[in-house]
Amino acid sequence: MKILVTGGLGFIGSHTVVELQKEGFEVVIIDDCSNASEKVLEGIHAITGKMPLFEKLDLKDNEKVSDFFKRHDDLEGVIHFAASKAVGESVEKPLLYYENNIGTLVYLLKELAKNEKSSFIFSSSCTVYGQADEMPITENAPVKPAESPYGNTKQIGEEIIRDTCLVTPNLNAIALRYFNPMGAHPSAEIGELPIGVPQNLVPFITQTGVGLRKELSVFGDDYPTEDGTCIRDYIYVVDLAKAHVQALKRLLEDKNLENYEVFNLGTGKGSSVLEVIESFERVSGKKLNYRIVDRRAGDIVTAYADTAKANEVLGWKAQYTLDEAMKSAWDWERKIRS
Ligand code: UD1
Repeated sequence: MKILVTGGLGFIGSHTVVELQKEGFEVVIIDDCSNASEKVLEGIHAITGKMPLFEKLDLKDNEKVSDFFKRHDDLEGVIHFAASKAVGESVEKPLLYYENNIGTLVYLLKELAKNEKSSFIFSSSCTVYGQADEMPITENAPVKPAESPYGNTKQIGEEIIRDTCLVTPNLNAIALRYFNPMGAHPSAEIGELPIGVPQNLVPFITQTGVGLRKELSVFGDDYPTEDGTCIRDYIYVVDLAKAHVQALKRLLEDKNLENYEVFNLGTGKGSSVLEVIESFERVSGKKLNYRIVDRRAGDIVTAYADTAKANEVLGWKAQYTLDEAMKSAWDWERKIRS
């Protein structure tokens, strides 16, 4: 069975390609390489012994995308990761984000709606919940006004898919709302490759650990949490990748109850920034240089997932601990800097 993975050279995309190949799927990757390198293909090959098909293609180029679908008329499913994801940049360049994340989604759905049957997995985010009133966060928690154009593209993206599914019975879609993905493949052949200064906590920690950054700034320790730092649900990227395969199979095997479904992907456990730092210090045996600074604008206090729906309906559960995920991130960081 042939599956298209857009953005398949990226962080979560590449790990998902590996899990798809392990399960016997044939994978075609489309990526414009704007935030990823073709070298990732070698990493995927080193892990699975299989080289995925790859086309360097910008999803905004409608003609080329249409030609791609004509040449690949045997696709059974699409997992759509390709998107811009920097929160700060999205505030500076909103139209770029709406064009990259929304324009391409609309076009992709138009193509898929032509097929007799289409299975579509969408990469969404827990950012749609904003600061939820109750923890853990279930899929029924209200969607809050987005804090950034990036967050808005995930909300609008979900709405576009939902509305399209309502009138397109041959289109089956699942939106996966990720909490905080982290880590790298245990082989250290693929992992996260942030461009420039990392905005996310874990890559900033490992880069500080390896000496690339002087110190980590902890954004605030006066939040209403036990140790005063913010709480997130850090999920190992390999667990996350496996959830995509599970979601895809649900659609391919016609097990979905509705033609548009939403699942949270998290561990169900919240960890504070200081706990994440402690995890790093445990697995690396190094002290981390860090300093408490002011709060970061727009940060929410606490977010962790209610995982019951993913566990029971999708039949998926995160397996790895924070320390195991952190060790993989640290192994990867040391490998790419050596
Ligand atoms: C961020 C984005 C979110 C996006 C997600 C993708 C913001 C406000 N939110 O979420 O929209 O979907 O990434 O992964 O940018 N921290 C530090 N020092 C740092 C970096 C982070 O203390 O140098 C803290 C943050 O304050 C936060 C936690 O670490 O409490 C996690 O931060 P981060 O990795 O940026 O993830 P989110 O804020 O959850």
